[in-house]
Amino acid sequence: MEKPPVITIDGPSGSGKGTIASRVASELSYHLLDSGALYRILGIATLKHGVALNNEPELAKLAKSLDIAFGENGSGSVSLDGDDVSLEIRSDRGSDMASRVGAIPAARDALFERQLAFLQPPGLVADGRDMGTVVFPDAEVKIYLTASPEERARRRYKQLIGKGIDAILPALLRELKERDERDSKREVSPLVPAEDALVLDTTDLSIDEVVEEVLNQAKIAGVLSK
Ligand code: C5P
Repeated sequence: MEKPPVITIDGPSGSGKGTIASRVASELSYHLLDSGALYRILGIATLKHGVALNNEPELAKLAKSLDIAFGENGSGSVSLDGDDVSLEIRSDRGSDMASRVGAIPAARDALFERQLAFLQPPGLVADGRDMGTVVFPDAEVKIYLTASPEERARRRYKQLIGKGIDAILPALLRELKERDERDSKREVSPLVPAEDALVLDTTDLSIDEVVEEVLNQAKIAGVLSK
């Protein structure tokens, strides 16, 4: 069977990846992989199950055994072992734990197969940090979104407040820079654009403009669903 097409959308937090990936997936009726949610869930699960981050065998076991269910594309709803954790994983603690487990090779390896399983017909939009470099290196379309740290912190702030989660802008900016640093300096799967990715700075672009550009790239690559 021919492999379904993949569009990877990587970049730092607040670059608009999640919103863009979900819009593009729904425009094309493709599946959506929010890989950050997997790292967030694993981070929260280590707290719930009392697994220390330096206990790599237990961490890997936990990552493989997690019972995760995603709601409809774009709904942002996720459950862990039957409990709705949609809000919890988006909290500051969820973000922090995600970037901590994301720096551990055993956790990344354990989540690798889970991510590949999302590739189903008619196609996949995969959102993350290493979708185009590590998980789907043969993707037909690779996009790397970026924006200034200040703009990304503002977007995160609006997103959190919109969900009824308390947030303080200067603290968000500081944490975002710390996470950027940790994500781009780590030894495994550091946050870097794939060599063949199109880098788009979204600081001054609207969501519609970015979606249009990604769809345009998909058209150029000949992967629009028939
Ligand atoms: O994309 P999101 O902000 O939800 O990701 C949360 C954290 O999960 C990131 O800061 C990063 O450390 C980690 N992550 C990762 N690899 C991915 C997706 C997310 O390491 N593919």
